[in-house]
Amino acid sequence: MGFGVSYVLHLVLLFSTIFVPAWSQDGDVMQKLKTSIKSSRNLDWSDSDYCKWENVTCNEARVTRIQLQSRNLTGFLPKELVQLTALTDFYCNDNNLYGDFPNMPNSLQNLYIDKNKFTSMPSDFFDNMSSLLLVSMGNNNFTQWKIPSSLKNCLALKTFSANNASFVGEIPEIFGEENFPSLVTLQLSYNSLEGNLPNSLAGTSIENLWVNGQKSTNKLNGTLSVIQKMTSLKVLWVNVNSFTGPIPDLSNLTQLEDVCFRDNRLTGVVPSTLTSLPSLRVVNLTNNQLQGSPPKFQDSVKVDNDLSGTNSFCTAVAGQPCSPLVNALLSVVEPLGYPYILAESWKGNGPCGDNTWKGVICSGSNISTIDFRKLGFSGSISSSFASLSSVTKLLLSNNNLTGTIPEELTNMPALKEIDVSNNLLYGQIPKFREDVVVNAAGNPDIGHDKPSSPPTPSPGGKDKKKFSVGAIVGVVIGVVCLLGLGVLVFVMCRRRYNKRYGKVQTPNAIVVHPRHSGDGNAVKISVAAAGGSLAGGVGGTSGFSQSSSVQNVEAGNMVISIQVLREVTNNFSEKNILGKGGFGTVYKGELDDGTKIAVKRMQSDMVGDKGLNEFKSEIAVLTKVRHRHLVALLGYCLEDNEKLLVYEYMPQGTLSQHLFDWKDDGLKPLEWKRRLSIALDVARGVEYLHGLAQQIFIHRDLKPSNILLGDDMRAKVSDFGLVRLAPEGQASFETRLAGTFGYLAPEYAVTGRVTTKVDVYSYGVILMEIITGRRAIDNSQPDENIHLVTWFRRMQLNKDSFEKIIDPAMDIDEEGLESFRTIAGLASHCCAREPHQRPDMGHMVNVLAPLVEIWKPSEPDAEDMYGIDLDMSLPQALSKWQNMEGRSTTLDVSYSSSMIPSCENTQSSIPPRSPGFADSFTSADAR
Ligand SMILES: *[C@@H]1O[C@H](CO)[C@@H](O)[C@H](O)[C@H]1NC(C)=O
Ligand SMILES: *[C@@H]1O[C@H](CO)[C@@H](O)[C@H](O)[C@H]1NC(C)=O
Ligand SMILES: *[C@@H]1O[C@H](CO)[C@@H](O)[C@H](O)[C@H]1NC(C)=O
Ligand SMILES: *[C@@H]1O[C@H](CO)[C@@H](O)[C@H](O)[C@H]1NC(C)=O
Ligand SMILES: *[C@@H]1O[C@H](CO)[C@@H](O)[C@H](O)[C@H]1NC(C)=O
Ligand SMILES: *[C@@H]1O[C@H](CO)[C@@H](O)[C@H](O)[C@H]1NC(C)=O
Repeated sequence: MGFGVSYVLHLVLLFSTIFVPAWSQDGDVMQKLKTSIKSSRNLDWSDSDYCKWENVTCNEARVTRIQLQSRNLTGFLPKELVQLTALTDFYCNDNNLYGDFPNMPNSLQNLYIDKNKFTSMPSDFFDNMSSLLLVSMGNNNFTQWKIPSSLKNCLALKTFSANNASFVGEIPEIFGEENFPSLVTLQLSYNSLEGNLPNSLAGTSIENLWVNGQKSTNKLNGTLSVIQKMTSLKVLWVNVNSFTGPIPDLSNLTQLEDVCFRDNRLTGVVPSTLTSLPSLRVVNLTNNQLQGSPPKFQDSVKVDNDLSGTNSFCTAVAGQPCSPLVNALLSVVEPLGYPYILAESWKGNGPCGDNTWKGVICSGSNISTIDFRKLGFSGSISSSFASLSSVTKLLLSNNNLTGTIPEELTNMPALKEIDVSNNLLYGQIPKFREDVVVNAAGNPDIGHDKPSSPPTPSPGGKDKKKFSVGAIVGVVIGVVCLLGLGVLVFVMCRRRYNKRYGKVQTPNAIVVHPRHSGDGNAVKISVAAAGGSLAGGVGGTSGFSQSSSVQNVEAGNMVISIQVLREVTNNFSEKNILGKGGFGTVYKGELDDGTKIAVKRMQSDMVGDKGLNEFKSEIAVLTKVRHRHLVALLGYCLEDNEKLLVYEYMPQGTLSQHLFDWKDDGLKPLEWKRRLSIALDVARGVEYLHGLAQQIFIHRDLKPSNILLGDDMRAKVSDFGLVRLAPEGQASFETRLAGTFGYLAPEYAVTGRVTTKVDVYSYGVILMEIITGRRAIDNSQPDENIHLVTWFRRMQLNKDSFEKIIDPAMDIDEEGLESFRTIAGLASHCCAREPHQRPDMGHMVNVLAPLVEIWKPSEPDAEDMYGIDLDMSLPQALSKWQNMEGRSTTLDVSYSSSMIPSCENTQSSIPPRSPGFADSFTSADAR
């Protein structure tokens, strides 16, 4: 009992003093939160278990909800909240919390922080929050900021409520259907926004739009024409702004109930499409320059429309018609967009009362002159001028009028002079009577049939500005189309790729993590070892250039954009989650053609550079090593804070599920021969890592949850985030301790020194688990049996009862018993206390291979030479295969022939590798 209970105790003590298990991280964060906020009303947070705290909800010891609304809290929120990576709901609205609001984990779905005194939001707050459904953050004391365009990353957003949130500047053109397909509520009231309502709002599903009460000097301006296309609107509050132009045609807004236009600069006749809207319940029109007859609504509608002169209606009686002259004048200015400058002064029902109507000059009770010169009008000349029969002078010069001169004007009986000079009119000048003076000079296209310049802007539009907005929209649409095309090309290329290589390359690879982060009670650790000085300049994540290897990868075009990955995973939908591990979440993705992939999304909040280093390490390793029994990388994405790896899908999940959770998962227990074959696969994969790849890679985290199974039940080793490359000429080196309890070689746990024998030890533990069906650490056992290795060795001493350790879930015959004894011996050999006493992986393969042959004589390994090719990185191999196929279209691409280039090919066509990746390391023998 050399390696006995005392040693385990020693280990446990060591860990309990130095190492912090991952799950207690929430505890630390919750303690921080507890000390940084104060409640005057009792908030019972006294229990030692934070999951029992009032208004805190947990799921398996991870905090999922914190609901502290209306608690009269003061204090601030700690930065560490971002580490609560299972948090979905955070409510602290209606308190007196102050200070900078911290970043939140990207698991968050609902965020209510309104009515506090927070002074800022992090500038990158929305960068990664793709799970957010609802944000309510108004009524704080933020310093001025712009609406962050990174908000568009929050694709799932349903509600964005930020009233009185100190926003300045314009509303960005992000609020559109592409970015926010689910957006229903957009509330931006009482900020200091200015500029126009963005055109992107057209066609959105927004039901509730509040932009009222902007505090900026200019407020929001421009027309409301975009709301004509917001057909889902139910509530529209645009009051207290500087919107101009008429109320648009609302006939398609069939659900509009509550609309508030008051306190703007709106002009024109209230359209019948508003007054007759059946859904309408509340309408506010007071204090604009609305014209024409005061609208009459159905009795069921609550109307706020002060008729005492706050608008420019022709009468003070709702529904009472205007005089024909007023109606004629209104028709005349309709194509000009009801200019504000006219509406302001055109009050009452008689244009000729006291000559106060701008642009209208009367002689007695008749209009004699229309003088719209130099008023900056755009739009077209109305044919309704013809109904102003007393007009002698029609002066429209020096504007931006477009279109043609209407034929009808020739019928004006009193007309003596028409001046349309210096506009943008085109077409033939109609034939006026001979005594009419016509001035059409200064219109570049007059006399021509078609304008040479762009078409007419719409009435009430903001002339030239409108063009540029249109152009921008066009460009945006173009870019969107291009993006779409890119996605299409990607999908098509994938299809082609799959057709050609998918079946042969790595049949069904994938990374599935178990539902828990470790194996049962095994706890993932990743903490600096005591006295962690790095020998030989190599340790943890430094010492050799990983970035150079990452660049190699990029050359091979493995970069996949985040948009594509979002698309294939339904925007990282909960439903697509295959598993969660210590470093992130794995999602299932499905390409258009049905090909399944696994997308591992690293947690964005990994402390410091650790996450990035794990990520780069995994890319570096997986592009350097390729082997039938190592899971294959298809691509990756490193954008903004996103770190994603794309693997092939392994449909049968993890070995852990098949060994330990098979009952729960509705699986059959593995037969003995399957177990042997899996053990051999793993041994081959690890043997390859340990030296056959010409460099020494050490996995450091071998365990059943990192062993994945394909539909053929062949195994692949996955999760290379902790893999380390041994430095040149060194068989061992010190590193930060990382790995999983129960699988850690004792010398590694104690000293942090890593050799390939660390993996051999873990492999031995896996063999024991395969034999016994017990977890490396099994808390359901009596104390002295918790640690599998200890128990296994003890049982081994008693030859008579040794067979009792065999997993009761499987039947094993005489022949099987013989191989069982061999494997049991091998397992305990691997778990020898001294590293030098442990065999190397090659030995394991040599022992296991003949045993597996016995069981599977008819299934020879097509490629048994430890992988495909040892010198090519994946991208290099890819392009080579593609070239080969280009040369010979009839070539039947198969694993053993075309996919494995001969040595000569390899030598001649593969460029020398970059020296950055410890290439000079030649010794394959780490032992
Ligand atoms: C907070 O907890 C108290 C006591 O359990 C409960 O009465 C209250 O409804 C909870 N509030 C919220 C918002 O969950
Ligand atoms: C809220 O807390 C403040 C002190 O922080 C206290 O003066 C006030 O009375 C409390 N209000 C309520 C409603 O509990
Ligand atoms: C809001 O913040 C400003 C400083 O930015 C501070 O002077 C002011 O007192 C704060 N107001 C409240 C109500 O906390
Ligand atoms: C609309 O607001 C913008 C930004 O405040 C301002 O530059 C522009 O002049 C305004 N347009 C009109 C017509 O007032
Ligand atoms: C209403 O919708 C129909 C169908 O989409 C469209 O043809 C029509 O032009 C729309 N009307 C208005 C006023 O926008
Ligand atoms: C709009 O009109 C309704 C009905 O008269 C009224 O209750 C409401 O306060 C008004 N809203 C505003 C912002 O004036």
